[in-house]
Amino acid sequence: MQNSIHKLSEMKQRGEPIAMVTAYDYTSARIIDGIGFDAILVGDSLSQVMLGNDNTIPLTMDESLHHTKSVVKAATKTHVVADMPFLSYNADPNISLLNAGRFLKEAGAQSVKLEGGHHICNTVELLVSTGIPVMGHIGLTPQSINQIGGYKVQGKSKEQVSRLIDEALALENAGAYAIVLELIPAEVSKTITAKLKIPTIGIGAGIHCDGQIQVMHDILGLFELFTPKHTKQYVNLADYMRNGLKDYLTEVKDKVFPNTAHSFYTEEVD
Ligand code: KIV
Repeated sequence: MQNSIHKLSEMKQRGEPIAMVTAYDYTSARIIDGIGFDAILVGDSLSQVMLGNDNTIPLTMDESLHHTKSVVKAATKTHVVADMPFLSYNADPNISLLNAGRFLKEAGAQSVKLEGGHHICNTVELLVSTGIPVMGHIGLTPQSINQIGGYKVQGKSKEQVSRLIDEALALENAGAYAIVLELIPAEVSKTITAKLKIPTIGIGAGIHCDGQIQVMHDILGLFELFTPKHTKQYVNLADYMRNGLKDYLTEVKDKVFPNTAHSFYTEEVD
């Protein structure tokens, strides 16, 4: 049985940090599930790190559903949150409801994540009242990158800070069970976290959030085009992969691989 949203809320009450990471495929999700993470996000960062797009905007419902299904198959204990793609929840509340429902009904996720503040609160209410748990996401919201004008820290001015606090409270009132705070000064996240009953999950939002999330490819050193300042790279998997692949390539070229240990023979050879 996967962790429920209630377990995440109890963790906030106990002061136990919530550890989340993204995943987009069965093999990685299986490793994550075995380690004991509290939740996996099938983030729309899938658009860049798996599909090679420049940003999250082009990601489609079909692509997201396809990857979410593969993650869900591996998650025996870990809560799976599906990130809803740009325009799948912003246009019409009833379409948003049907799209969100597909992540639970077809892909098997336990909740969905939506970016935005006041303008999505009605949608959040509708989803939650229909039985679809919603994680909010405020601060830097990458689906609005064209509006924001870059991956910039949010909440630097007094006006921005009070807007972030209002948005967080509005999402909580609308029924969100947790909120991602992305690229927000640590003191601001601390204030928001203290004001909310629901957990905050930070990414580039300092130590005071109730939990943390990172993009798996960033912390494992797999995505080489860009490493955000808020990321700590725990291992350089790209180098490990390159070295392993180079060794294989060399052995094939040198006719060293396969040897007898990797070959099959008939029982009786004339
Ligand atoms: O898509 C994603 O990976 C995310 C996280 C950065 C929170 O939304």
